[in-house]
Amino acid sequence: YMPCHVCVCVCVLMVVCQIRYSIPEEMKKGSLIGNVAQDLGLDLKRLRSGRAKILTGESPQYADLKTDKGILVVNERMDREQLCGDVTPCSFSFDIILENPIELHRVIIEIVDINDHSPVFKSERIALEISESAAVGSRFDLENAEDPDVEANGLQDYILTPNENFVLKQQDNIDKPLDREMNPHLSLKLIAVDGGSPQRSGTVNIYVTVLDANDNAPVFNQSVYRATVIENAPFGTYITTVNASDADAGSYGLVTYYFSNLKGTLAGVFNIDNLTGKISVTSQIDFEKDRKYELRVGAKDQGGLNEASKVIIEVIDVNDNAPVINVMSFSTPISEDAPAGMTIAVINVKDSDSDQNGQITCSIDSKLQFKIQSLLPNYYNLLSDVVFDRETTSEYNITITATDSGSPPLSSATTLRLVISDVNDNAPIFTKKTYSAHVVENNEPGISIFTVSARDADWNQNAGVSYLLEDTQVSGSPASTHVSINSETGVLYAARSFDYEQIKALQLVVKAQDGGSPPLSSNVSVRILIQDQNDNAPQVLYPVQTGGSLVAEMVPRSADVGYLVTKVVAVDVDSGQNAWLSYKLQKATDRALFEVGLQNGEIRTIRQVTDKDAVKQRLTVIVEDNGQPSRSATVIVNVAVADSFPEVLSEFTDFTHDKEYNDNLTFYLVLALAVVSFLFITCLVVIISVKIYRWRQSRILYHSSLPVIPYYPPRYSDTLGTGTLQHVYNYEVCRTTDSRKSDCKVGNAGSQNVLIMDPSSTGTMQRIQSEKSILDEPDSPLEVSSIRCCCA
Ligand SMILES: *[C@@H]1O[C@H](CO)[C@@H](O)[C@H](O)[C@H]1NC(C)=O
Ligand SMILES: *[C@@H]1O[C@H](CO)[C@@H](O)[C@H](O)[C@H]1NC(C)=O
Ligand SMILES: *[C@@H]1O[C@H](CO)[C@@H](O)[C@H](O)[C@H]1NC(C)=O
Ligand SMILES: *[C@@H]1O[C@H](CO)[C@@H](O)[C@H](O)[C@H]1NC(C)=O
Ligand SMILES: *[C@@H]1O[C@H](CO)[C@@H](O)[C@H](O)[C@H]1NC(C)=O
Repeated sequence: YMPCHVCVCVCVLMVVCQIRYSIPEEMKKGSLIGNVAQDLGLDLKRLRSGRAKILTGESPQYADLKTDKGILVVNERMDREQLCGDVTPCSFSFDIILENPIELHRVIIEIVDINDHSPVFKSERIALEISESAAVGSRFDLENAEDPDVEANGLQDYILTPNENFVLKQQDNIDKPLDREMNPHLSLKLIAVDGGSPQRSGTVNIYVTVLDANDNAPVFNQSVYRATVIENAPFGTYITTVNASDADAGSYGLVTYYFSNLKGTLAGVFNIDNLTGKISVTSQIDFEKDRKYELRVGAKDQGGLNEASKVIIEVIDVNDNAPVINVMSFSTPISEDAPAGMTIAVINVKDSDSDQNGQITCSIDSKLQFKIQSLLPNYYNLLSDVVFDRETTSEYNITITATDSGSPPLSSATTLRLVISDVNDNAPIFTKKTYSAHVVENNEPGISIFTVSARDADWNQNAGVSYLLEDTQVSGSPASTHVSINSETGVLYAARSFDYEQIKALQLVVKAQDGGSPPLSSNVSVRILIQDQNDNAPQVLYPVQTGGSLVAEMVPRSADVGYLVTKVVAVDVDSGQNAWLSYKLQKATDRALFEVGLQNGEIRTIRQVTDKDAVKQRLTVIVEDNGQPSRSATVIVNVAVADSFPEVLSEFTDFTHDKEYNDNLTFYLVLALAVVSFLFITCLVVIISVKIYRWRQSRILYHSSLPVIPYYPPRYSDTLGTGTLQHVYNYEVCRTTDSRKSDCKVGNAGSQNVLIMDPSSTGTMQRIQSEKSILDEPDSPLEVSSIRCCCA
């Protein structure tokens, strides 16, 4: 701030001079006010000599005179507002007095206002409460500001901070409708400015509280709310919160929520908290029923204004539906000869879940020989993978499992029961490879022997087995003449009575045939063994019992003790025990003379023969078999105790007296004897010539003999083991005609032969026993020779 040097020096009188200085207020002490000396036209000497000084009166001395420089400086702060208040112009005066001569000079100092004060409001804030519905143009009083400065520096104007609502008029009023919701509190500044330079201002804050009116409806913060909910969410599950705000305050701003237009299925599914807007689940949510819910939600305030919004709730699928299997077609039963790869069933699968949860794969138990194929989506073919065999597996339980791809996956299964129907592919099979059975001879015809049985693995008619006897020959006659079979039961019956001695075993073939078409059959061989019964008495082969002829064994009177008289030879056509023969002496002329070997039938002397012994000895030997009951045969052995034939003959001739023959027979016998004699002589001649021829050639007469046909009695080999007969018999069979007369043939030492003539038959069997083997026996005396005489 430049001090004012404007001096108005008006010298009215020489002695009274008036200087006017104008200085701004608030100058610093010592600041130059003005050069008085110069302005008064005084030199410094005069000032000094005149002892110039300031006369101020009672007022404080604001200025000081520096006499050495002749200047006037500020002595004290000068506050215009203090000195003058509102009075303008503001000045004060003082006199400068000089002595010698006294000079009085008036100095008027005008203090110029500087803008050192701002306009000031009395209160710091102004609070106004204005209803928001206040009409535009309403006026509100504001307090004034005050500025001590004057004139231009004084209060010049008011300025209101820029705002939409208020303008400052001479007196303030509403310029635009108030909106509490926009600005519930307005804060304005009223600025009072003065005109000083620099301009100064004073400010007051105006706080306007806008009072509420229900002029706002609730407003949702979103036009559409989107939310998701998992299906089957438990009741009370939080979904979303709608939020409407009402700009109004108090009850006009209290928003409550509600569902509007909840109709039909939607009702009761969701709940909205009327205060918080939280939407939650109150009922079963089923994706399969509703995939999406659209709810209209409303919000209203207590003043009745409302607003609506939309809530879209999408349901998230949960894998809560197991696949459903539908069997579209299923062919059962299926023939066991169906080819592999045949389609057995067609199934359809469905899953009401969506996406992954509804993706289905089908499978079957891999152990089963089936395949499952999908040709069309959700359609599966069940194929057989094998050739069926009903006999192994007659039915299959095929479990088809459908599994979806959800997490966790759900599955369902259905079981198809596939029945395999039969084809006649199995022949009946007998329970044994071969059968053998026993039947005791002399059975009653028609008795059941035993049962064959065959099984057929097929089913029903294909497994119905019937039994047939194959047409084979058994001992020259058809098998059916021996046995018959019950075609249903397989029981074999004897068709007749068997005779062990005729047939020892039957070899049959039984056929089992099933009822299929074509039928299948199989054979089994059946061996029926006939078991022996003791139905045959022993047969005495030797000595031959002829009705009329007489056979006698000769025992020389010189015979020693143990002399082998003869041997009773018997056979039994039965077998085993039944053919086990034992010999006993039943009757004897002289029991003390002979004994019979129990086992071998040898008749031996047991004491020395004496002269007193009768020539004719008659022994009855009984031959018994060992059967149960036992059967027996007796044989009468005539023994002649004599030394010569004549003796014997004389004794035995009377044996034949009682014989009766008819003439016819005699004639034939004579004729036969003639023929035999002729043949015999012819044979003899031939034999002799042959023997001579051979003797000539080899000199071994020995070798030539009649052709020998070995003949073994039946069951002979069996008896060999039992010890009954231990000998080998050779029989020479010749045919001869009977003759009333017969010669006794004396066997030579090498081969003792006996010629037996049986007049009871036209053909006489001549059995020549070779005693050689007997003689070979160790226990037989070698020197013994037996003479047998056959007399007809
Ligand atoms: C509503 O939304 C507004 C803004 O989006 C938020 O300030 C307010 O807190 C919300 N109200 C509730 C109850 O969530
Ligand atoms: C609306 O309000 C809800 C609830 O308070 C809140 O979750 C949501 O974010 C809000 N939306 C917007 C756009 O502000
Ligand atoms: C809100 O709901 C509760 C019970 O659900 C009820 O008691 C209350 O009156 C409701 N408030 C309004 C304002 O509808
Ligand atoms: C198949 O199922 C049926 C009925 O459950 C049952 O009787 C039969 O034994 C089953 N067959 C097989 C081969 O498992
Ligand atoms: C059974 O035996 C008969 C005759 O013995 C024969 O013709 C037939 O082929 C045989 N059948 C079988 C299946 O062996």
